[in-house]
Amino acid sequence: MRFEDIFPRPQKCERKQGQLDFSTVTALRVDAAFGTAADYIRELLQKDLGRELAKDGKVAIEIKYDDDVPKEGYELEVKTDGIEIEASDQRGAIYAVQTLRMAALVDLKKGTGALLDCVEIEDSPRFAWRGINIDDARHFFGKDEIKKVLDFMCLHKLNILHWHLSDDQGWRVEIKKYPRLTEIGGKRDKSQINGWQNTQVNDVPVVGWYTQEDIAEIVAYAAQRGIDIVPEIDMPAHLAAAMAAYPWLGCRELDRPVAWYFGSSIPLSMGVKDWNRSACVGDPRTMQFIRDVIDEIVEMFPFGYFHIGGDEVPMDEWKKCPKCNAAMKANGFTDYKQLHTHFINEVGKYVASKGRKLIGWNEILHGGNLDNDVLVQYWTPQPDPRVAKHLNNGGKVIISKHKHFYFDMPYAQYPLKNTYKFTPFFGGINKNNVGGVLGVEGELWSEWIDSPAKLEFQMNPRLAALAEVAWTKTDKRDYKEFEARVENYLPLLDLLGVGYARKEIYRAPKNPFKRARTVKAWYGKDMNVEFDQN
Ligand code: ACM
Ligand code: ZN
Repeated sequence: MRFEDIFPRPQKCERKQGQLDFSTVTALRVDAAFGTAADYIRELLQKDLGRELAKDGKVAIEIKYDDDVPKEGYELEVKTDGIEIEASDQRGAIYAVQTLRMAALVDLKKGTGALLDCVEIEDSPRFAWRGINIDDARHFFGKDEIKKVLDFMCLHKLNILHWHLSDDQGWRVEIKKYPRLTEIGGKRDKSQINGWQNTQVNDVPVVGWYTQEDIAEIVAYAAQRGIDIVPEIDMPAHLAAAMAAYPWLGCRELDRPVAWYFGSSIPLSMGVKDWNRSACVGDPRTMQFIRDVIDEIVEMFPFGYFHIGGDEVPMDEWKKCPKCNAAMKANGFTDYKQLHTHFINEVGKYVASKGRKLIGWNEILHGGNLDNDVLVQYWTPQPDPRVAKHLNNGGKVIISKHKHFYFDMPYAQYPLKNTYKFTPFFGGINKNNVGGVLGVEGELWSEWIDSPAKLEFQMNPRLAALAEVAWTKTDKRDYKEFEARVENYLPLLDLLGVGYARKEIYRAPKNPFKRARTVKAWYGKDMNVEFDQN
């Protein structure tokens, strides 16, 4: 693959005379300043090349430390007799090597030599936050798939795994103080299938969670690839699995199972009672619970952020709850949204005492009283003017807008083009406040993603578009040219054993009636309509 065609496209790539056959590389020298990244780079290249790399040799890759290279960036020179790289941090060094790998791997594996153009590349990212969110709660993917995703993210210079570890349908991380969270909350025996309003239910159990040792293993694996992990424990809503384990977390102490149905509205005929509840934010036991959980979470996850969720909060039960109403009165609130945001702020203060920052979905702005240093993740399909206001007040935002970055949605609704054609300038975000936009993140909610194969189908090739939007400093994007590059890159995914949607799917049907029919089928009766056709 030409260097100009890799994902994400390098900022600046100047072609020189000549070529170098990557398969002839015999040596690797990495400056000691890069620490453990050197081991990872060596491991990667030796595996690709199928041989040990010596310190000295005729054709060498040399990675030097240079303080002048921007953070996470690199300079790369391919010459006819070797490769020189300069970087100022571990990510930069790793990303330079990923640039080489993406350009060379497919040819290399054919075994007929891998000719690279001689080039000088200067590269560094547009956004500091380049993420993917995996919902491991609705369905459980497990360590091997998470590691596969981390490898794939690193290849594309993505640096944040947002890990959705709890929801109504499952609690997936061991908390030693509350063992029932996983023993009860980590299991369900069936699932609603074929759509949010569908009354069909399967009898396939969904069981699984990560022990604290598993988490340590994944965090270390991610760190080696320059990826930070943001754990999300969603609350005060999306907490039914925890409430199944500890019913006292609710305003009413009800005996209810881990949710096996999805969404914030389900057909009455399913006969489920009390299916859309929030935890009681007026009861001090709830805050103690979250403090205890956070105590263990921050020990497991060294990165500087904790994600509280805070989205889609039903407040009906609060309105009838003496404890929640007492909290309303004590704080002088007139709107339950203020109580919601107050709860978020309280958790934020606790998280800050642990040296972490809080992040939550944009609903946490709706009380109007959010502390300004809480990071907001903007997802809602409907425009939210409070997000621009938050930016104007100096707040920070991650963008995961539904129509660009909800990778779990059907391609017929949100074709690949939607992701590629993203620009941060919308809804009041402009050149004066865009500096508060830390970056972008693709979302993989797993209500209807029940296998690694489907996860990869929904994710790719959208992840390539996300990587380019997050990394490459331009808002001028030619989709046609992009699509040609995507087609040229798909053999790399075949080689890596990573699944993806084919062009016939990721483009969405041209005929608007056919497109609407596919969307309708997807929502109404068959969430695998595209996957099965692929
Ligand atoms: C969300 O999709 N409720 C963040
Ligand atoms: Zn309450």
